[in-house]
Amino acid sequence: MPTKPIYVTEPYLPPLADFVPYLEAIWASKMLTNGGPMHQKLEAELCDYLGVEHVALFANGTLALVTALQALRIAGEVITTPYSFVATSHSLLWHGIKPVFVDIDPETLNLDPARIEAAITPHTTAIMPVHCYGQPCDIAAIQKIADNYNLRVIYDAAHAFGVTLPSGSLLRSGDLSVLSFHATKVFNTFEGGAIICPDAKTKQRVDHLKNFGFVDEVTVVAPGINGKMSEINAAFGLLQLQHIDGALERRREVAAIYREELAGVKGIRLPLAASGHLSNNAYFPIMVQADYPLSRDALYEKLGSRNIFARRYFYPLISDFPMYRGMPSAALENLPVATTAAAQVLCLPIFPGLTRENQQRVIDAIIGH
Ligand SMILES: Cc1ncc(COP(=O)(O)O)c(C=O)c1O
Repeated sequence: MPTKPIYVTEPYLPPLADFVPYLEAIWASKMLTNGGPMHQKLEAELCDYLGVEHVALFANGTLALVTALQALRIAGEVITTPYSFVATSHSLLWHGIKPVFVDIDPETLNLDPARIEAAITPHTTAIMPVHCYGQPCDIAAIQKIADNYNLRVIYDAAHAFGVTLPSGSLLRSGDLSVLSFHATKVFNTFEGGAIICPDAKTKQRVDHLKNFGFVDEVTVVAPGINGKMSEINAAFGLLQLQHIDGALERRREVAAIYREELAGVKGIRLPLAASGHLSNNAYFPIMVQADYPLSRDALYEKLGSRNIFARRYFYPLISDFPMYRGMPSAALENLPVATTAAAQVLCLPIFPGLTRENQQRVIDAIIGH
């Protein structure tokens, strides 16, 4: 019998019947969007759950990134990581901002603070780091540089739902943090996103910008976009929130098994092993090194032949795509660590519904059975 495919992720979906009452409430209210009751309730519940002051919901994370930049009037050059999903840098290009790529730290795979200062020019206005795989950036070091040079910090926290440091929510760091609730994310609303704002005034500006710039019926203060989350998505988020703790716990269990089973495998490095306890296990990256019997791509093919669809996140680097590769900061010599990571990384299947048996299929394929 052919084996069932195992994908890198599978969205968590609550029982369908549990969603029906939410739909009935929407049908009764006839409020489909524009900050209706579901939207307001989800913003409030997310503030509580995440331990943050102000959440502005969005239709997706990319619109939230674009709006975050607009809200803080970012222009000129922004320092960012090439080791991310393209939306990080694309949000800069949407504003005509020049991304300046800085290499990553070999341990955390996040923007290397030690390399930021050298990339600052008189045109630099902000830093846009990514908490890659949900693992926190070195927020203290980044903030220190931002303070010294009077730069803003916008975190692309698309992977970092629910990540907490001893000092509180990771999402409170920097000037703004942006979440994605895309289907592939730890917490999903089918499509969705949010900006975490530090104060009511910033949230108000963000709320205006995500509604075309309308302040009231007759006043438009900025060329805003339509970034609003619909009532259906918000309602689904309310239901998902009831299950999120269980989903995160299952991810922890799956990650712990991978860590245990793959720890001693020659040529396989587990980049989140040292500080993985801080992450939300949104992803499980491994690095396939030269002393593993297969190349990264050969292992990827081997898994595929067994109906296991791991993903090479993040390969190619953002800086290798045509709209970026001519930029001086995209040069290979500037990004040796990111280049190596992109050549070695493979993200293994991890999601709440991954059975022990299917996880063993992945492990067996890697350790050679
Ligand atoms: C790091 C990163 N930034 C931004 C995004 C964009 O989010 P969305 O798909 O919700 O627009 C994603 C994922 O999709 C992502 O992984």
